[in-house]
Order: sequence, then C-alpha cells, then structure tokens
Amino acid sequence: MKILVTGGAGFIGSNLVDALAERETDEIIVADDFSSGKRENVAQHASNPRVRVAELDIRNKDAVRAIMRGVDAVYHLAVQCVRVSIRDPYLVHDVNATGTLHLLTAALDENIKRFVYCSSSEVYGTATRVPMDEEHPPAPTTPYGASKLAGEVYARSFFLTYGLPVTVVRPFNTYGPREHFEGPYGEVIPKFVVRALNDAPLVIFGDGTQTRDFTEVSDTVRGLCMAGECDALVGDVVNIARGQEVSVRTLAQIVLDTLPESKSVIEHQAPRPGDVLRHYADITKARRALGFEPRIAIREGVKRYVDWLRRSEFDPRAMLRQEKLRNWE
Ligand SMILES: NC(=O)c1ccc[n+]([C@@H]2O[C@H](COP(=O)([O-])OP(=O)(O)OC[C@H]3O[C@@H](n4cnc5c(N)ncnc54)[C@H](O)[C@@H]3O)[C@@H](O)[C@H]2O)c1
Repeated sequence: MKILVTGGAGFIGSNLVDALAERETDEIIVADDFSSGKRENVAQHASNPRVRVAELDIRNKDAVRAIMRGVDAVYHLAVQCVRVSIRDPYLVHDVNATGTLHLLTAALDENIKRFVYCSSSEVYGTATRVPMDEEHPPAPTTPYGASKLAGEVYARSFFLTYGLPVTVVRPFNTYGPREHFEGPYGEVIPKFVVRALNDAPLVIFGDGTQTRDFTEVSDTVRGLCMAGECDALVGDVVNIARGQEVSVRTLAQIVLDTLPESKSVIEHQAPRPGDVLRHYADITKARRALGFEPRIAIREGVKRYVDWLRRSEFDPRAMLRQEKLRNWE
C-alpha cells in the first residue's frame, strides 16, 4: 500500500504517520505545506526509506494531481484551524473545502482504494441533544466548522456520484504530544499546561461550563486507522472520541492537580465568538463497526502530556512567549 497523509507534519497527522510507519509493508508520503506543521514532527522517519516528506500546498490542483500518482489510500488531514477561520474565512475555505475537492478529483482519477476524510466534531456545532451520534444535525458555529462540513459533503458526494470509496471520520477534541500551544493554533490543554508551568493564569473564555469530549491522540489515531481499514464504513461517517463530557473548568482543575507545584490561578475572560457550548460524543457506531475502544481517560492523558513535555527539550518561559504570540482571541 502506498499511503498519502495530507497534513502529515501536523499534530494528529504526525502521530498517524508514526502509527502507519510501524507497518512493514506501507510506503507513506507525508504532504504538508508546513504552515502550522513542523518538519521536526516527522524528522524521526528521516532514515526510513518508506517515508517520504513532500512540501505541498493542497490549494495547488496540479501539484495535488502529481502527488496522487500511484497512491492506494489517502488520509486527508491538512487543515487551517478554527482561530484562523475567524480572521480569514476565505483562506480557510480555500484550504479546507476547495483543497479537499482537489484531493477528491485527483483520487478519483487515480482510482484509489480508500479515501479517509478527517472531519471534525465542529461540524455539529453545539449539542442539541447528548450524547451526539452521527445523526445529530450538523450546524457549525464557525467558518472552520462550515468548511469542514463542506469538505465532508464533497467527500460523501464523491462516493454517491462516482463510487469513490470514502470514509468520513469525525474526531472530537484531540490532545496529546505535539499538540499546538503557540498563538492562534494553540489548543486549550497545551495552553493551560504551559501557563501552569509558568505560574501564569489559566484563562477560561466564558464561565467554563462549556464542555468537550477530550480524546487522547493515540485513541484518535487508532480510530482513524481502524476506519481506514473497515469496508463496512465506506460511504459512511463515524465519530471517534473518548465518550466523556468534561467542562473546561474541570479541565483547568485537572491541569492544576497534575502540576501541584504551580501557583497559577483560574481567570475568566469574555466568551470567544463561535465557541461551541457542549460536545459529548456517542461512540456506539465506532464500537460496533470497528471494535474501537478508547483507552486513555482525561487525567491520565493530561499526565502523559506533561510527562512527554518534560522528556522533550522544553523551556517553559520560551513556550509561554510562543503561547502568547499573536493570540487573536
Ligand atoms: N486537533 C483536534 O482537536 C481535532 C479535532 C477534530 C478534528 N481534527 C481534524 O484533524 C486534522 C488534523 O488536525 P490537527 O489538529 O493535527 O491540525 P494541525 O494544524 O496540527 O495539522 C494540519 C496540518 O495541515 C497543514 N496544512 C495547512 N494548510 C495546508 C495546505 N494548504 N496544504 C498542505 N498542508 C496544509 C499544516 O501545516 C499542518 O501540518 C484536521 O483535518 C482537523 O480538522 C482535529
């Protein structure tokens, strides 16, 4: 199998590449424009002849067509994130929606065997009922969510119209090693941890009762791989999550419990535009169709993340400077 991973130098993508590279027979092409992804996230594969890293912008239709030649399966993860979408919806549409269309048309021409579209729980918007199964109405609250849904709808239409073997995976909030803490790309768990390591306030936007279904990246990656290998889910969509609802306030306390030496306090600021209020996944379909079972609970996952940071070369003060960099909201 020759596998193309778009966004493979990013947070989830690079963890996925690590998992795929463990299989002896696979050849992997990592395609990334390195706008938020980092070369060091895939540097561990530099001496592996089965892993090739290519600089590619998925907005470039011809380049997408060229890289697709001879590919058997695609895991499409390249994305511009939610905070960028609030500043620049056109850029995010071009990458997340039109870029997906470029990949789908190239995949169709190449007759590929499987196209896994990595969507997002953000396509649901705020929960109108919980837990949220795949039939929960999609109602994105941000341009990011809208662009992810557009990509998803294109992907499923390519299955219905042309029979392209597409599977849509909707991961919920994923965290763990290599997650972004810097500037607009930064996510809540690394931001809280970096701040706690510096005795800086943990900033909660709103009252902190908003919830997420925090899923450790090894669980998300296992779910993506399982979905990519499951024939029964071709043309279908599946949630991948821990299946547990955790409020941001509880999360802040878990981070402080994990770092008891921290002198940080919790600080509240105005809610952010478009923030989802409630996310809690129903993962019955993943359990039934894939035999997927999440393994890592939130306290254990936060501890693992802190341990990983401490093992890697990190300078908490430099990280705090990056965390604050161009913080838009
Ligand atoms: N992180 C989460 O909590 C989460 C939750 C649900 C779904 N997802 C989905 O998982 C996927 C990966 O997300 P992530 O959190 O790892 O994000 P990320 O920003 O770490 O990774 C995205 C990658 O795409 C690359 N990229 C951006 N624009 C590109 C372009 N024009 N051409 C080529 N590459 C480009 C970036 O450089 C980066 O390496 C995305 O599809 C996202 O929607 C993420």
